[in-house]
Amino acid sequence: MPVLSFLKWRISKIERGFTQTVLPLNVESSNQYITQQAALMLLAADYTGGIALCTLFNEIPVMGFHPMQGDYGAYMWGAKANIKWHRPSADDLTCEAVIPEEEWGKVAKRFFEGRDVIITIPVIMRNGDDLVATADFTYWAKNTHALRETARDEEKTHILYTHQIKTSAQLIAGLRSLNENHNDPIAEDVAGKQGLILAKKFCLTAPQLQQMVEARTEHCDRSLELFAKKHSSFSIVNIGVGLDTRLCRFKHLNNINAVYELDLPVMLSLRSEKLKGVDDTDFPVHRIAIDLRENVLDDRLLKAGLDPQQPIFFIWEGGSMYFYKEETHQTFTAIRKLMQNSESLLWLDYTSKKVVADETNIQEVEDFMANMRRMGEPFIQGYETILSSENSRLFEMKHLTSSDYCVDK
Ligand SMILES: C[S@@+](CC[C@H](N)C(=O)[O-])C[C@H]1O[C@@H](n2cnc3c(N)ncnc32)[C@H](O)[C@@H]1O
Repeated sequence: MPVLSFLKWRISKIERGFTQTVLPLNVESSNQYITQQAALMLLAADYTGGIALCTLFNEIPVMGFHPMQGDYGAYMWGAKANIKWHRPSADDLTCEAVIPEEEWGKVAKRFFEGRDVIITIPVIMRNGDDLVATADFTYWAKNTHALRETARDEEKTHILYTHQIKTSAQLIAGLRSLNENHNDPIAEDVAGKQGLILAKKFCLTAPQLQQMVEARTEHCDRSLELFAKKHSSFSIVNIGVGLDTRLCRFKHLNNINAVYELDLPVMLSLRSEKLKGVDDTDFPVHRIAIDLRENVLDDRLLKAGLDPQQPIFFIWEGGSMYFYKEETHQTFTAIRKLMQNSESLLWLDYTSKKVVADETNIQEVEDFMANMRRMGEPFIQGYETILSSENSRLFEMKHLTSSDYCVDK
């Protein structure tokens, strides 16, 4: 809440169903009459009501505010605001939000059951004992697991989830467009203004992300190049393809049989829209809408015509850190079933266990993880080695490298 911290707004009291905050009268918060600016009062009151609502969700983190260690948290949004200013606020403004006790259980139950919570919370604003303004804020909240389940069907995908996944894909494209070698000329268009600003903003606090994305992308490109040189005919399967532009960098090859791109339905729509005009290829590109958690990867690829007997280059870039190891093992098992040709390869990146557990003792790495958690995109799973005993029954490691192999630090 950068604006509020600039105003020195503070939380003075929190209890279950109750929040009190103070917006001090100061140079920053006052207008030409040395009274508080109406819109700032609204802002302070909005956060006061929102915090009161959070207190009903026990200790779970609110995405965008609290660092998320795992992938379970609360997603909150303001739906409507009604405010009445009764008199000028000429002193520190105390805002209080109270949720009646009889509502607490009902709200928490809806939330933990994964249903939409829609609640109107009154906020009273005072200078000392004097009533200055009253407001009613309507909030919407949902738990993040229930929210992401809406993404299995494009029609039902919640608008806020759409926003979240679009933003993170545009962020990655934005980071690629910042690459000093300019080896991804269309990334900037794909990222759009929002992706570019997001990337620049993110780099201020976590510059490592850009280098990490650069390293993994470059390594995957190199591996794919080698693979393409070795085989007269092969297919590519790109899992969680997002807004990756690799297709444009490899479309000149004449030994690609077909490309299969998989992602959530809403992401594939965005992809088709963003890559329109540059994804013209001589080989077929199949876009397969899928939720990896449904465990239907092999089935869907076979139905789309993938021939498991031919050499296949599988890519799972920037994905494994967002899935728990059991979920990843399921995806690996499906990939393995499709690797009936001994030449087939899976390229993927993963994060070390120490990074996810904050045990590196490297400040930059820990800051980076903290930023990802705050952004609501925490890396939830790390590995000492990705070839755990279960996974080593499926694959053999051909090559392993750390992401700093091509950057200075
Ligand atoms: C960090 S992005 C990486 C995108 C792309 N591979 C790249 O490097 O640009 C992760 C991708 O995984 C996709 N994804 C996340 N959860 C998914 C799920 N349950 N099923 C399928 N795709 C998913 C996201 O939509 C997103 O495109």
